[in-house]
Amino acid sequence: MRDKILHLLKDNEFVSGAHIAEKLDISRTAVWKQIKSLQRLGYKIESVKNKGYKLLHRPDVPIPEEILSDLNTRVVGRKIVYFKTLSSTNLYARKLVDCGVDEEGTIVVADIQHHGRGRKGRLWFSLAEGLWFSIILYPNIPPQQSMMLTMAASISVAEAIKEVTGLDSVIKWPNDVLISGKKVCGVLTEIDAEMDRIKYSIVGIGVNVNNKLSEGLYGKATTLMEELGFSVSKVQLLKAILKHFDENYMILVKGNYDSILDKWVSMSNIVGKKIIIQEDKKTMQGIVSKVDIDGSLILQTNTGAHRIYTGDIEYLE
Ligand code: BTN
Repeated sequence: MRDKILHLLKDNEFVSGAHIAEKLDISRTAVWKQIKSLQRLGYKIESVKNKGYKLLHRPDVPIPEEILSDLNTRVVGRKIVYFKTLSSTNLYARKLVDCGVDEEGTIVVADIQHHGRGRKGRLWFSLAEGLWFSIILYPNIPPQQSMMLTMAASISVAEAIKEVTGLDSVIKWPNDVLISGKKVCGVLTEIDAEMDRIKYSIVGIGVNVNNKLSEGLYGKATTLMEELGFSVSKVQLLKAILKHFDENYMILVKGNYDSILDKWVSMSNIVGKKIIIQEDKKTMQGIVSKVDIDGSLILQTNTGAHRIYTGDIEYLE
């Protein structure tokens, strides 16, 4: 109902309560109650007797009413579950799947996560004004190809950042999006799989938008606001990411892995680069000769070619 009321309200122009009530076939008291609930969410709506309601300001909060308006995606973002605070959107998305209540493309989004999850059990710092969300998917792709979901997600974030802010970003294997060499986004894909099929996948995406960073991240991470010098609409950015991810996901589930891989390789610029890779206590150094279809790196070292599935990399030149 709130989305319908928002649709009828006009920016800087009064719309009468009677008009809204008639259009939606509800009482004027019901209209008033919905207006109150919108005001609680942060909408500034002026209310004047005998004139009606005037929309003065929309909040930049990723609530379903804002995200779903004109979204037009096929799968990604069909349903939005919003929280002000949550432990972790990945964790909550998994609970939804475990309860068997959720359809493909559902997004869980929170303003603040107090236990955001990063790769390798690390904590993901998730203060207010960042974009923290997870996508529930049931991809019909082999488990060996699951890294493609992370690739499709980082491509989509880079495409959306370009569309909304004009900023160029680079993808760093396996899951980071960087601007000016600093991390602006991380992707954590978690899957539950049998030998030959993925039962479900949760793609968690964290983008530093207008948020503060933890002190330990200075010099290593950045925010879109820091790069631009002004704040960015999280609603606009989330909608753009969902739109691009929907397109890339369609390509993926049709089995066009090469097309996703080619895009990822060109946005990562990693092939031919000298890198050092650290996995647990092991370190290896060499030149990346290829990124394979399963997302692994082929590293040429002085002991020969090695296939790398996971680890943290640094560029040496
Ligand atoms: C990384 O370590 O680079 C991956 C970070 C992924 C963070 C996102 S924020 C939204 C989603 N929910 C989580 O708990 N983690 C992911």
